[in-house]
Amino acid sequence: MKVLVIGSGGREHAICWKFSKSSKIEKVYCAPGNGGISQMAEIVNIAVSDFEGLSSFVKAKKIDFTFVGHEIPLSLGIVDYFACKGLKILGPSKDASKLEASKIYSKEFMRKYNIPTAEYRSFFNVNDALNFLENWQEFKKIVVKADGLAAGKGVYVCCGREEAKNVVKQMMKDKIVGDAGASVILEEYISGVEFSYLVFTDGISYSIMPVLQDHKRVYDNDKGPNTGGMGAYAPAYFARNEINKKVEDIVCKAIVGINSEKLDYKGVLYVGIIMNGDMPCVLEFNCRFGDPETQAILPLLNTDLLDICESILNRKLLDIEIKWKKGVSVCVVLASGGYPGSFKKGFEIKGLNNIVDPNTIVFHAGTKFVNGKFVTSGGRVLGITSVSDDIKNAITEVYSNVKLVQFENMHYRRDIAQRFLNEK
Ligand code: GLY
Repeated sequence: MKVLVIGSGGREHAICWKFSKSSKIEKVYCAPGNGGISQMAEIVNIAVSDFEGLSSFVKAKKIDFTFVGHEIPLSLGIVDYFACKGLKILGPSKDASKLEASKIYSKEFMRKYNIPTAEYRSFFNVNDALNFLENWQEFKKIVVKADGLAAGKGVYVCCGREEAKNVVKQMMKDKIVGDAGASVILEEYISGVEFSYLVFTDGISYSIMPVLQDHKRVYDNDKGPNTGGMGAYAPAYFARNEINKKVEDIVCKAIVGINSEKLDYKGVLYVGIIMNGDMPCVLEFNCRFGDPETQAILPLLNTDLLDICESILNRKLLDIEIKWKKGVSVCVVLASGGYPGSFKKGFEIKGLNNIVDPNTIVFHAGTKFVNGKFVTSGGRVLGITSVSDDIKNAITEVYSNVKLVQFENMHYRRDIAQRFLNEK
């Protein structure tokens, strides 16, 4: 079979890597891909939003199946478009993708299906939002969220009335996140530990992957601004039965909601959880694999990803037994100096050939392959994942491999998965 993966980050590299291990797949293509992906798949220079270009390419190359890694094409309706052309594709429909693409839709969905989440109000014009903030008596921390997709830049935790009003003005008037901020949510602030649950679903049944923990802040000990994610590990420390049971209840309610709303959902549902005391609450739904979570979870998957995709497409997910390695994986993201703010690109990445450990995989996120060398081309540059039987060994292994790689101004967190050791 021939497979096309859509996207260009570490997540898509991990998906291409996993597909390349399938004995049934003869060729993997990736659009638009990146430098690292070009070493294992044929990269295709077509934008993720160019549906006509992508579908013509799929027809011309007789590609059997397309997997969408990135949220933008999903939110623009690539699954509906490909389905109309009779092409096999895995991902939720445009309507179903609103669970990620519109925070307002997503919160209404949670409210309707009794899914625990923070209290909120939606606002469609700036004066209403400012009046609400002006008149709100019990002022505590509050979260301002852009309704639309904002590439990780649409959520602000504000410490006072004035800060919240400023953010609202910047989003709704000054359009700092473009149209994504035309409507906003003001949400109760919950301070709790966060976890990521990734769920395979064919829209009727589901299979929850081992729980992960991402590290969103840029510096050690969760300091500094939010990023797309500086590292992840799995299974996360609190994979305790009673919490998993509560999350499973949430996933069940989400699947009931998806059915009741007649949403066509085949793919991966990302359930971002924050603990409110003992109660897991949904921070967000995403309609695709997480990044960097995918770089930590796929190395633990023993089952062929293509078999899982086919059973999802045939709505027969229950018929497949999905097997996971017993071990632990830790992924550390190496980022460009300045990220998540502005950063320079084009620095040579040295030392990649020094990584020879069979339990360590290097996933490329923001790299290009130019004149036989890898150079940096994004904020998150590489994700290095080590798998071991034991968390301590996985941490030691991953950091000893991280030290073999260098590029100018490279930075990374030194405490990925440390919480597992502290909380155990
Ligand atoms: N790691 C967060 C996300 O994928 O949305």
